[in-house]
Amino acid sequence: MSKTIAVIPGDGIGPEIMTATLRVLDALDCGLSYDFVDAGMVALEKHGDLLPKATLDKIAEHKVALKGPLTTPIGGGFTSVNVTLRRHFDLYANVRPAVSFPGTKSRYENIDIITVRENTEGAYRSEGQTLSEDGEIAESVARNTRAGSSRIVRYAFELAVRKGRKKVTAVHKANILKTSSGLFLNVAREIAKEYPQIEFNEMIVDNTCMQLVMNPYQFDVIVTTNLFGDILSDLCAGLVGGLGLAPGDNIGERAAIFEAVHGSAPDIAGKGIANPCALLLAAADMLDHLDMVAKGDRLRQAIRDTMTNDRDSVTPDIGGKGSTSSFADAIVKRLAA
Ligand code: NAI
Ligand code: MG
Repeated sequence: MSKTIAVIPGDGIGPEIMTATLRVLDALDCGLSYDFVDAGMVALEKHGDLLPKATLDKIAEHKVALKGPLTTPIGGGFTSVNVTLRRHFDLYANVRPAVSFPGTKSRYENIDIITVRENTEGAYRSEGQTLSEDGEIAESVARNTRAGSSRIVRYAFELAVRKGRKKVTAVHKANILKTSSGLFLNVAREIAKEYPQIEFNEMIVDNTCMQLVMNPYQFDVIVTTNLFGDILSDLCAGLVGGLGLAPGDNIGERAAIFEAVHGSAPDIAGKGIANPCALLLAAADMLDHLDMVAKGDRLRQAIRDTMTNDRDSVTPDIGGKGSTSSFADAIVKRLAA
């Protein structure tokens, strides 16, 4: 199969981890070709635009993009390119797997939780945010719709079925946010009935935070609204050793963009020590999305084997002595073996 994807190397450590990731993808022999496009600071410098139309057109054409982190300049009234991309392509499902890997500093082992976060509505609206003229009263309107809640809950259940997962937990605050969170919860209850083979439970968000820290093994797939999902998925990343291992998939009907959860890490950019794993794991999710599940699993296993057996070649953030390229080399070697 031959498939072209849009590739956005991005800012800071982006080009370093993207080079490593594409080298590993090539070693997997998945028949992918890459159409390189610019976004972020690189695009602003080259084309005078953080998100050039040509980039949007290429993503629309190929429907799948692999994206490095982008720096959003502070000041100057720039909106986040990431938020703009999610809106533009209506990437309503933000899927964030948190999986334990060997040799990382974390409290737990064998964690495997997928957070499915609604990515387009809830409290994340630019409309409905007001500040009174005297600066004394601020309002922010959360807006959830039946259609938006349905499609994210359905996405979570379909993902559970596809991946052979056992349980979906809907996380809400319907006891207090009776309308916005209440609508989401009611829709979740209705849709759960269509999936009798998947266990369904519901949990209030504050209790969920405590339960995740006390006993994360009770969770399998979590589905929730935008803001709760943002916070809970970072909590889950913390359970498995942090950002260097956290992929984020942004999925819509018209396009899907796969990225690392972390940013452009200006403090280590250019030093060759960035951990490529989060982007590699996002690439593995992209292969699943492109119906190359066996290749995606092979990639995840090679990362796991490398982290177990080739400790010297992994990057310093996870306790190794290696570099971005020695890490990638070791994974490529495992794939060839
Ligand atoms: P960051 O995630 O870039 O860095 C936080 C800390 O984690 C730093 O110490 C960094 O060195 C470390 N780190 C991050 N990724 C790493 C990796 N792969 N390997 C080893 N260490 C890693 O977050 P920060 O500093 O808050 O943001 C920097 C820039 O990134 C900002 O301009 C921000 O807007 C942007 N950003 C972009 C995102 C995206 O494109 N999806 C997401 C988050 C932030
Ligand atoms: Mg966040």
